[in-house]
Amino acid sequence: MAENGNELMDKLVALCKRRGFIFQSSEIYGGINGFWDYGPLGVELKRNIKDAWWEDVVRKRDDMVGLDCSIIMNPKVWEASGHLGGFSDPMVTCKECKKHLRADKMFFLHVFNDEQKEALVNATEVRAKYPAIAALTVATIMDAAVEADDVNGAVHAAPGAISEAAVKHNVSDLRKCKGVDAWVALDGGTSYARIEGKSGKWYLVIVESVKLALSGSDRACPACHARNTLTEARQFNLMFESWTGAMQDSSSKVYLRPETAQGIFCNYKNVLDTTRMKVPFGIAQIGKSFRNEINPRNYTFRSREFEQMEIEFFCHPKEADKWYEYWRDARFQWYIGLGLQSSKLRLRNHEKDELAFYARSCADIEYEFPFGTSELEGVANRTDYDLTQHQKFSGKDMTYFDDQTKEKFIPYVIEPSGGVDRATLAFLCEAYCEDTAPDENGAPQARTVMKFHPRLAPVKVAVFPLVKKEGMPEIAQKIHQDCKKASLPSFYDEKGAVGRRYRRQDEAGTPFCITVDGQTLQDQTVTVRDRDSLRQERIAADKVVPYVKERVS
Ligand code: GAP
Repeated sequence: MAENGNELMDKLVALCKRRGFIFQSSEIYGGINGFWDYGPLGVELKRNIKDAWWEDVVRKRDDMVGLDCSIIMNPKVWEASGHLGGFSDPMVTCKECKKHLRADKMFFLHVFNDEQKEALVNATEVRAKYPAIAALTVATIMDAAVEADDVNGAVHAAPGAISEAAVKHNVSDLRKCKGVDAWVALDGGTSYARIEGKSGKWYLVIVESVKLALSGSDRACPACHARNTLTEARQFNLMFESWTGAMQDSSSKVYLRPETAQGIFCNYKNVLDTTRMKVPFGIAQIGKSFRNEINPRNYTFRSREFEQMEIEFFCHPKEADKWYEYWRDARFQWYIGLGLQSSKLRLRNHEKDELAFYARSCADIEYEFPFGTSELEGVANRTDYDLTQHQKFSGKDMTYFDDQTKEKFIPYVIEPSGGVDRATLAFLCEAYCEDTAPDENGAPQARTVMKFHPRLAPVKVAVFPLVKKEGMPEIAQKIHQDCKKASLPSFYDEKGAVGRRYRRQDEAGTPFCITVDGQTLQDQTVTVRDRDSLRQERIAADKVVPYVKERVS
């Protein structure tokens, strides 16, 4: 691919704006960082993703039910869940440019290059600072010149002798780079590795943790490059606060939920008492969550207001490992089934040292976005931690009584937790494609096409009369209305050359275009054009609805 990830993202963002998938929130006032609106096509795409999830994880199963909980809950919920005490990110502020930065997402890289003499001097210094590196030969260290963005988009280092750059990516992004030799941990959270760049060159990279880098050194601010301007890291709670009622004091303080999961835990007993569900069973919820992210970034990927689709699956502790593996693999396959290429999807099992203290196992389903490989969904075995916490803080019994075995226990919870906006962004990135298609005269023309899975495509079918006369619009209108009556989102268009109408639908990702032409008047057939193969076939006009239905469901 000639273009880099940034160029691709720029094109995608422009298409999303131009065609009405995604707009900046409150754009006429200059927008607001971390908030986005979905336009007419975007809202349909997002709804189709949520519907596909709900259909597959709730409606098609006997062991799952749904919930829709309030966004604002009793603040004790957040004490019990640990969000009030621990849901925070370390933040540093640049005294010069006043930017706030996530300390744990900032690492200082020393990237070695053999092209400038100065490198040797500096390398000696660094080798003295990190004795473990002294064991490497200079030839190994002076491996290659650095090209910005070469290292799988993870290392943004300015070319230089020993160049030093603060990157926004975290160390786990680097760990995931292709061809990374074993990471070697040094003192103070610093580590180094050899990394293979996209060009095939190898780099030696030292990642110096921000804790070390900030202590007494004069590192440059990643935003404005001023030196010695970064404050100490301090904890910043991510929950948005508000107040209920007329008085704004500590007794009326409430929080916008940062995850939908806690509403499910609080209702677990209500569900057991009002349904016939028995362990193992799960509760699913789709809804808005809010996090006052320090650095919203990468378009909608990290937003301050977003939607989650979460499952809490309650099972016997002895069966938890089995259910964890089941959900992890089922959720991974779900994305592939809806068109995400498996080569761009990764299942990353967390190392033991990455796990939260209460979690027994956890895996991230990651997608290779143009800006780097990042988490789409996490699947965790959360043990009985959440229910035990709520039992402790609420004083309500959270145990389950199995009337067959007569056993009483607090169920373990397996939690597949995905983001609707991240899934939408991944499906948008995956769909974006540039190729050529012949125009009316058969000459190849460049086109941009969104190759959505038909189940997710916002518009399923477009209907065109070839010309605006001879009764063609009336026939096309009837087909269009029949599609709508059959719940197939359809678009009618009679304006402009038919080639241009096709191209508009390609950009919207419409899988099928139906054209009513002269032959329709003779034999009541129409052409169906397939968005991806560009193949055209004639079918009976009254068979359009079953034809499209069969292919989009
Ligand atoms: N209940 C567990 C939980 O909330 P999480 O990993 O913090 O876990 C789950 O969030 C998913 O929610 C993520 O995998 C991601 O898809 C989505 N998500 C989290 N923070 C987000 C943000 N700031 N913007 C968009 N999506 C986000």
